[in-house]
Amino acid sequence: MKVLVLNGPNLGRLGRRQPEIYGSTTHAELADLCVGWGRDLGLDVEVRQTNHEGVMIDWLNGAADDGDAVVLNAAAWTHYSYAIFDACAQLTAPLVEVHISDPHQRPEEFRHTSVVTPYAVEVVAGHGIDGYRRALAIVAGGTPA
Ligand code: DQA
Repeated sequence: MKVLVLNGPNLGRLGRRQPEIYGSTTHAELADLCVGWGRDLGLDVEVRQTNHEGVMIDWLNGAADDGDAVVLNAAAWTHYSYAIFDACAQLTAPLVEVHISDPHQRPEEFRHTSVVTPYAVEVVAGHGIDGYRRALAIVAGGTPA
């Protein structure tokens, strides 16, 4: 099964971006980890990151057309983008929402809303980078260890 791991704005700076919140793993390292975790689960994983909302919407539309599963960290778009909401609505294969931190436990009120959650089979938040492994396990149909 093909799975797209799609990461939104500022996640390209993982490792350098607020490491006390997001950890020290870089996006390139995360991508390698996801491909390896996917291989172990029998999934064909492709990891992408963009800071451009239209690019993300094109990728989500492509996943809808191709019937690909999606692991989505929409980052800040999670909290306000109705274009992302509409794009998620069109997906047919499972969508798992992932966040490195737990937005609901963070002080900023705006992080407590998600436009992705209504279309996600599950939300994985607050498990750091390991959340991506858990999300891939959910896509593969298992219960994450
Ligand atoms: C995030 C949480 C969001 O609130 C934030 O805007 C991000 C990253 C996370 O992975 O914890 O950019 O999605």
